Amino acid sequence: MKKEGRMKWWTEAKFGMFIHWGLYSLLGRGEWTMLVERIPKDEYAKLASEFNPPESFTPETWVKAAKEAGAKYMVLTARHHDGFCLFDSKASDFTSAKTAAKRDFVREYVKACRKHNMHAGLYYSLLDWRFPGYFNREKHPESFKAMVNQVHAQVRELMTNYGKIDILWYDGGWIPGTDAKKDTPVLWKSKKLNGMVRKLQPHIIINNRSGLPEDTDTPEQNTNASEAGRYWESCMTMGDFCGWGYIKNNPNMKPVTQLIQNLVTCASNGGNYLLNIGPKADGSIRREEILRLKGIGNWLKKNGEAVYGTVRLPAGFGFWGAGMLGMATTKGNNAYLHIFRWPGNTAVITGIKSKVLSARMLSGGKNLKIKQQEGKLTITGLPSRPPDKHGTVIALKLKGRPETFDYSQIPLP
Ligand code: GLC
Repeated sequence: MKKEGRMKWWTEAKFGMFIHWGLYSLLGRGEWTMLVERIPKDEYAKLASEFNPPESFTPETWVKAAKEAGAKYMVLTARHHDGFCLFDSKASDFTSAKTAAKRDFVREYVKACRKHNMHAGLYYSLLDWRFPGYFNREKHPESFKAMVNQVHAQVRELMTNYGKIDILWYDGGWIPGTDAKKDTPVLWKSKKLNGMVRKLQPHIIINNRSGLPEDTDTPEQNTNASEAGRYWESCMTMGDFCGWGYIKNNPNMKPVTQLIQNLVTCASNGGNYLLNIGPKADGSIRREEILRLKGIGNWLKKNGEAVYGTVRLPAGFGFWGAGMLGMATTKGNNAYLHIFRWPGNTAVITGIKSKVLSARMLSGGKNLKIKQQEGKLTITGLPSRPPDKHGTVIALKLKGRPETFDYSQIPLP
């Protein structure tokens, strides 16, 4: 299937929900605990006997939360660096299906996604800390080989046993003592691997973390756009930089407004925003995360038109399009001004070259008065307080596509 066709739903979606969940969720100190605390693998493996969420929990809880947040797709850690699989695997006994829970959570998750018309993505870590060959290839060549074989076998299982999978989100391609660019795809045999994936799932979207560019770039914890022409998605935690899995004491959560601004920043540069939650070991989502997901969802209910289906703004417009007041996004002949710093009754915006035909506030739908002269757009009749505390969107209908002036062309004061 051609790339543009495969990517269409994804570029329109703009917003996805990432889930990091596994044995580490029991410890509450993040998904890197096994390595960081140097927990011997047999000791760590004992956690599997405690990983047994109540029957009342099903991944449908997550899908409903994602829906409420306005996310259009999800990505679940089918297996993280600790090697514990949330799916049944012939290539490993270290799985939720063969230990206490006796459940294939990937199956339950994919089923719940389908039920709610949610695109289903799977995260899969290439590296597995349980293999000594991962840390020292020269000393344990057989172990390294076994790890690579495990990858090919398990990716095949994930691509075969669960029906349609929309996204394969690789991670953990780095190998100690190697050149990430040159060696990663060679050592994991990524070309062969992804060839197999595309055969089994012709419409799938694959990220760039198997060492090959494939479909999407994945800036992590920042919203820096890739160059035009590349599809990109920023993945980010709600809490601190460190820690995607459940962290018990994690008070430093980004406010809803900041999360919305990140989403808009991505959209304005043609990217997606993949926002992470780290559910507790029993599958429940902590209150702090629920509140944020709901906050974003409520905002998107009113302002989604300015996010979903938007495309990358021409260079310059992103910045000058909303001036000092916020950011802009665009779709067709519309420009959306996301006013994050409310100016009061009048907004003055310079730099929009396109003729503005009308202006309307998305919250409440009020039509606004505009005057456009020498590169200066004045919008009057605004309420003195922002109608939407997280960001009020003004939709401008333009004659043609959004264009900006070269800033030097605008008459100086
Ligand atoms: C990093 C981390 C990992 C996390 C991922 C998300 O690569 O190793 O823990 O899953 O980022 O992007």
